[in-house]
Amino acid sequence: MGIDVWLPRNVVEPDQSESIASVGVDVDNMDWDALRQCIADCARCELASSRTQTVFGVGNRNADWLIIGEAPGAEEDRRGEPFVGRAGKLLDEMLRAVGQSRESVFIANILKCRPPNNRDPKPAEAAACRDYLQRQIALVQPKIILAVGKIAAQNLLGSDEPVGQMREKAHDYNGIPLVVTYHPAYLLRSPSQKRKSWSDLCLASRLSAGGGT
Ligand code: URA
Repeated sequence: MGIDVWLPRNVVEPDQSESIASVGVDVDNMDWDALRQCIADCARCELASSRTQTVFGVGNRNADWLIIGEAPGAEEDRRGEPFVGRAGKLLDEMLRAVGQSRESVFIANILKCRPPNNRDPKPAEAAACRDYLQRQIALVQPKIILAVGKIAAQNLLGSDEPVGQMREKAHDYNGIPLVVTYHPAYLLRSPSQKRKSWSDLCLASRLSAGGGT
């Protein structure tokens, strides 16, 4: 005879993140509203206790372009929207330069909650959030994924290469072309690299239009 321990369906202990798919809710079949609610209620990892709110993502649900960043920062945590700080303003400018906008694309992050003190996401946190992003990608069905920064690129591609080695090529994410570029926060610190990001966005533009590299 054992004692059953009942947990809310959307909760796992942090060290159980490897087995989340088996214990979590069935995110794979959720529509937008159910997914948004599920993320808002999420307590899969310790970030649930330090966040102000979850940051679901923003933009056009039928976008050709899906932009994926790392995790909310302080401003995003406060406002509940990704890329609204200084880096976000630069991202807006970069998108405008290739004829896109915050309204035409969809913007999401690897993590839906802010890591304290803007530290890098822990692997267990990224694992806990993974099926949320996978479902967003499946719902948007973008023509191109733009991974901005090391954390996004490495998580999406399962790689540990630096951004400098991942950019300038068309990767494949489950049949969707994926381009890697520098994170706008890095570009704010290293403006001389903006030229390379411009070239990455041009590559993404060509790929989204069905062109080659
Ligand atoms: N940096 C990110 O990667 N994502 C945000 O939402 C904000 C800053």
